[in-house]
Amino acid sequence: MSPLSNLAARDVETLVHPYIDLASFRDSGPLIFERAKGIYVYDTDGKPYIEGMAGLWCTALGYGNAELVEAAAAQMRKLSFAHLFTGRSHDPAIELAEKLKEIAPVPISKVFFCGSGSEANDTQVKLVWYFNNALDRPNKKKIVSRVKAYHGVTVAAASLTGLPGNHRDFDLPLPGFLHTGCPHHYRFAHEGESEEDFATRLAAELDALIVNEGPDTVAAFIAEPVMGAGGVIVPPRTYFEKIMAVCAKHDVFMISDEVICGFGRLGTAFGCQKLGFVPHSISVAKALSSAYLPIAGVMIREALYQALLVESKKIGTFGHGFTYGGHPVSAAVALKAIEIYARERIFERAAKLAPQFQSRLKALNGHPLVGEARGLGLIGAVELVADKSTKRSFLPQRGVGPRALQFGEGEGLIVRAVAGDVLTLCPPLIISEAELDELFDRLTRALDKTHDWVVRERIAEA
Ligand SMILES: Cc1ncc(COP(=O)(O)O)c(C=O)c1O
Repeated sequence: MSPLSNLAARDVETLVHPYIDLASFRDSGPLIFERAKGIYVYDTDGKPYIEGMAGLWCTALGYGNAELVEAAAAQMRKLSFAHLFTGRSHDPAIELAEKLKEIAPVPISKVFFCGSGSEANDTQVKLVWYFNNALDRPNKKKIVSRVKAYHGVTVAAASLTGLPGNHRDFDLPLPGFLHTGCPHHYRFAHEGESEEDFATRLAAELDALIVNEGPDTVAAFIAEPVMGAGGVIVPPRTYFEKIMAVCAKHDVFMISDEVICGFGRLGTAFGCQKLGFVPHSISVAKALSSAYLPIAGVMIREALYQALLVESKKIGTFGHGFTYGGHPVSAAVALKAIEIYARERIFERAAKLAPQFQSRLKALNGHPLVGEARGLGLIGAVELVADKSTKRSFLPQRGVGPRALQFGEGEGLIVRAVAGDVLTLCPPLIISEAELDELFDRLTRALDKTHDWVVRERIAEA
């Protein structure tokens, strides 16, 4: 192994990195990026990579957008910080909340700003608890999420997340957080079960869970329209209409976590519109500002807002808020991003590119390593398997996903490998048709090299 470069060595001695085996990372070191433009990021040797993951599912407008940079600089010059605590305000937050209400997929009354997707989902949980206390339903507090969901890493958000790596040895999930079945047909449907029948079974499972717990103890159900970090899982046909009926039957609040799917990822402004469900409240982050600056929000309906009024009047305060919630510079950038989305018709553009993206993606179903290529809009994944006919996965310790990621990097492509040897794709929405083809050409070469390695090293053997 080559000795780590000076910068890499300094990194290893100074940073704790998320989502890596911290021990082996001490030898491998980081891949360090220096600059970026459009859909390309450049490492410290000047090598370009297609950013096939839009950073972390977030840089919808790509890199180096001068208008966003100028929006930030102008707001910094004008008012670099102001908060929203104790009745203070500023025009970027007001305008952004107005804009979000205007483009919301359901009638939204108010927006609560925070700094990250995790903070948004923690806020969702706290608002639902507060709401049910205001309605004098003190027992209706449990929240149902799903196996393989990803809702963030703060204590409540990590409890919502349904991935073992986010729970183990963190003593999570907290009590009162439940996980119902994952809507992944390829992995969890019974032999010969149709998508519709699978959806019916999942809805029945949710119904049974709520009945078993007691409907008067279950407050809310949270879902990503398409699950992202769990492996890009598109629910089976009719899933959300059936889930929505169960939630309505038991007076359970439906929360749409639009942190990835919001702002055009599926070809619609919000993911719930594409999947056909009607949430009570919505979490947004990431593409809200195209990730030029951190900002997130919780969009709530009038009934919830009315409950907040009642409860805060009783207590004398609404005791929740973040220093940087609705930061004026972030809000100014988000406003500009939404202006660009509308002016450049970015969501329609994503819808127009989706057939090309999905047909190149689904063509990978023919690759000897690919068990399932799946996706919707401009998000997708390939799940690598040891045996296509039995769907047998590789042993995790073989590290097939991470190795494929390295071959991708060798080809000048950034993808992500999540648990189960799933390679995820989520390019900036500004990607061109030619760049999209180039992305899949590079991915195919990386998969071919991974396959050669798997055969040569007999990695598929159990
Ligand atoms: C669907 C979803 N919700 C919430 C989060 C958490 O967001 P953050 O990392 O900004 O806390 C993520 C992050 O990837 C996400 O994908």
